[in-house]
Amino acid sequence: MAAAPRTVLISGCSSGIGLELAVQLARDPRQRYKVVATMRDLGKKGPLEAAAGEALGQTLTVAQLDVCSDESVAQCLSSIQGEVDVLVNNAGVGLVGPLEGISTAAMQNVFDTNFFGTVRLVKAVLPAMKRRRQGHIVVVSSVMGLQGVVFNDIYAASKFALEGFFESLAIQLLQFNIFISLVEPGPVITEFEGKLLAQVSAAEFPGTDPETLCYFRDLYLPASRDLFRSVGQSPQDVVQAIVKVINSSRPPLRRQPNVRYSPLTMLKAVHPSGRLYVLSSHRLLFRWPRLLNLGLRCLACGCLRSQVSPDSPHP
Ligand SMILES: NC(=O)c1ccc[n+]([C@@H]2O[C@H](COP(=O)([O-])OP(=O)(O)OC[C@H]3O[C@@H](n4cnc5c(N)ncnc54)[C@H](OP(=O)(O)O)[C@@H]3O)[C@@H](O)[C@H]2O)c1
Repeated sequence: MAAAPRTVLISGCSSGIGLELAVQLARDPRQRYKVVATMRDLGKKGPLEAAAGEALGQTLTVAQLDVCSDESVAQCLSSIQGEVDVLVNNAGVGLVGPLEGISTAAMQNVFDTNFFGTVRLVKAVLPAMKRRRQGHIVVVSSVMGLQGVVFNDIYAASKFALEGFFESLAIQLLQFNIFISLVEPGPVITEFEGKLLAQVSAAEFPGTDPETLCYFRDLYLPASRDLFRSVGQSPQDVVQAIVKVINSSRPPLRRQPNVRYSPLTMLKAVHPSGRLYVLSSHRLLFRWPRLLNLGLRCLACGCLRSQVSPDSPHP
């Protein structure tokens, strides 16, 4: 007899990875999942519903959920029939720019969404998972949860916070047969980058000195665009990795879906002092941007990839 479908609740399904994941799980030919695809603004549900097609109302339901609101989380969970078997914390926002020009409120919003939004959801589903002694919590983290990236200080900090939080929690939860998986994508071609660029072009970064602003606009932004173009993945690639993790009988704590990005995360892993990573990132951005561009093209074509194993451990 086939096992009962697992209820998967996903945050942030109005676009990108969340939307793709919700649709892929809901259209599983073996109907192994009942997907609760959530978003903070139901006015944006059109693309998800269109992509879900016949799965809508069958294996996929859409629900309102703002991860920044306790009430919204409570209301969403009380509207679900049955229990959440798999929680996918996907909702997230980015923030780039020189620190001096970013308001504390903007920084707090990143933490409230990326970190506390996730913690809020986990706190809400945990009691039932513990009672049933089963569950799986998947978190869409980032390679920036493993290593800092220039001008992404706050975003990286929010993802580092998730990594520390879940690595700690994973130890306790094993006792309850509940698994944690942190999926750490590199650049992904979604609306995420476009939203960031729109934010940046509208921002003036008041209080930032001209030299720093020039580094940000003339060095970092072009390098970031090159990075997305060269090693950016499709959301479908990331979803494939998440589905694999969800279906694993022994889910891994960490999984990096982007093999082409691995040489960059390896820079930190091979030299635990951090010196190699910080120095080489600095040199490539500030001294040898052309070499950075060439290196990214090599990563894109795969000639550096063969030097490292895709599943190499990271710090
Ligand atoms: N794209 C990348 O390069 C990349 C790389 C590594 C990791 N990630 C991570 O991947 C995850 C998904 O991002 P994506 O690339 O798919 O970008 P995306 O298309 O911008 O999707 C982000 C989703 O999060 C939702 N969201 C934001 N604030 C929310 C809130 N308070 N409550 C509920 N939902 C909220 C957005 O909803 P609205 O439409 O209402 O804003 C949207 O549905 C994020 O956690 C991101 O940090 C992305």
